[in-house]
Amino acid sequence: MAPSQEDAATGRRARRRAEPPARTATPRHYLMCRPDHFTVSYEINPWMDASLPTDRDLAVAQWQELHDLYVSLGHTVELIDPVPDLPDMVFAANGATVLDGVVLSAHFHHEERRGEGPAYLHWFAERGYETHTATEVNEGQGDVLLVGGLLLAGTGFRTTLAAHAEVQEVLGRPVISLSLVDPHFYHLDTALTVLDGSEERAEIAYYPAAFSPGSQRVLRRLFPDALTVTAEDAAALGLNAVSDGRHVVVSPQAVTYQEQLRERGFEPIPVDTSELLKGGGGAKCCTLELCTTSTPGAVA
Ligand code: ARG
Repeated sequence: MAPSQEDAATGRRARRRAEPPARTATPRHYLMCRPDHFTVSYEINPWMDASLPTDRDLAVAQWQELHDLYVSLGHTVELIDPVPDLPDMVFAANGATVLDGVVLSAHFHHEERRGEGPAYLHWFAERGYETHTATEVNEGQGDVLLVGGLLLAGTGFRTTLAAHAEVQEVLGRPVISLSLVDPHFYHLDTALTVLDGSEERAEIAYYPAAFSPGSQRVLRRLFPDALTVTAEDAAALGLNAVSDGRHVVVSPQAVTYQEQLRERGFEPIPVDTSELLKGGGGAKCCTLELCTTSTPGAVA
């Protein structure tokens, strides 16, 4: 090959490597709960400090921005009525585990949140979902994430190993147990984002140090091309992000994570949820996805 041809070939290869895959958004169905009763009156994770003031109006405004963004992206958002004295109910991801119309109720580790399980289950029962009441401690989709036909399930702080078996039995999907080891990342969705849940293109991002050595090996084996984030971005709860396969709603503080997402062809959309972060949650925590495998490409 003449030198100029060689240069052209090298250039083509470099471009191919640099060119990220095309990403497709699929419409999602979410359940959210307005933070009308949000406050930090107890401390059940290291982010919560009950001695600091909270601004409920700001929490509602930030939540509304997130809600309106989902609607503008073409997603369907349903609402559950907030219940007084359940200040963490805004973190809808914990409300239940839902897959193809089947719902396993949440059964919270902490007494302070126990009332949320029945409140969410009632919402689903009223709408004709097939509901199951959990006997083991699980915190819904905070700890159970669907990707590539598997359910990744966190344990160590909230959801128990026994609950993983219950999730598998009720939802009929293989459950992969992952051990969380850092109290700042007490739910799986604080340490791992599902960027693409589909079977063909399953893709995740995670913070390795949040997981036990064995679980890190499991993640490397299942997702060798996964994106791993910096300690700074993890500490901003950057992984508590919501992807529709193309748009990724993410904390504005997770700067490097946004760059990494762009390199992979995703479109990060920063949304500030700083007030809700006082409760230890971000965008993903506020969002329960009513997963159905009939949405092409959404989940599998
Ligand atoms: N204060 C809540 C708790 O500690 C925050 C829940 C965050 N939710 C989540 N899906 N990570 O239980």
